[in-house]
Amino acid sequence: MIVAALWIFILCSAFITFGLYFIRLIDLIQVRDAPYVPLDSNAIQALLKNLPDLRNKTVYELGSGDGRVALEVAHRLRPKRYLAIEKGRWPMLMAHLKRLRAGNPPGLEFVSNDIRNTNLSPANIVFVYLMDDFVSQLKDKFKKELKPGTILISCQFPLKGKRPFKTIEVENGPIIASQFYFYRY
Ligand SMILES: C[S@@+](CC[C@H](N)C(=O)[O-])C[C@H]1O[C@@H](n2cnc3c(N)ncnc32)[C@H](O)[C@@H]1O
Repeated sequence: MIVAALWIFILCSAFITFGLYFIRLIDLIQVRDAPYVPLDSNAIQALLKNLPDLRNKTVYELGSGDGRVALEVAHRLRPKRYLAIEKGRWPMLMAHLKRLRAGNPPGLEFVSNDIRNTNLSPANIVFVYLMDDFVSQLKDKFKKELKPGTILISCQFPLKGKRPFKTIEVENGPIIASQFYFYRY
């Protein structure tokens, strides 16, 4: 009896572990535009200090990873809506688990979607932390869909050919720094 229970436990654990690795592998294969690299907590705090008043504002985060920025901003700054768009299944699963633990701030929605298929026109503020090439590919989409006055914040990678109205740099230790570029449309 004990041996049978032990076998069932081992088989279930192996099945769950394989399942989680499988989701992760699929993510690595599918999300080629930008890998999952979560933002450092110092950088998140600096971002919070530099965001405008978000009450009555709709925020879009494109590629929201495990939801750490979304949860922090939604809890602390209470925007009217915060849409966290993420294509990867693994980061999205982590985001839902984090939300279960941290509580569910009003207005926060985790949306499983590709950024390319997301209509950005309702946004007042857009936050991206992606890759150089992908940000360049999205430039035309931003120009077409963002309404006048929308603020776009890009972490690490500036938009080529557009001048930021504000830039901040945050030390994350002796070697690594995060840059944020603020643009107005
Ligand atoms: C560098 S991480 C940033 C995560 C999060 N914004 C943060 O600051 O912690 C980029 C995220 O974008 C997601 N991503 C990449 N391409 C995407 C696409 N086409 N549509 C939606 N999400 C995408 C990745 O899965 C990854 O989680």
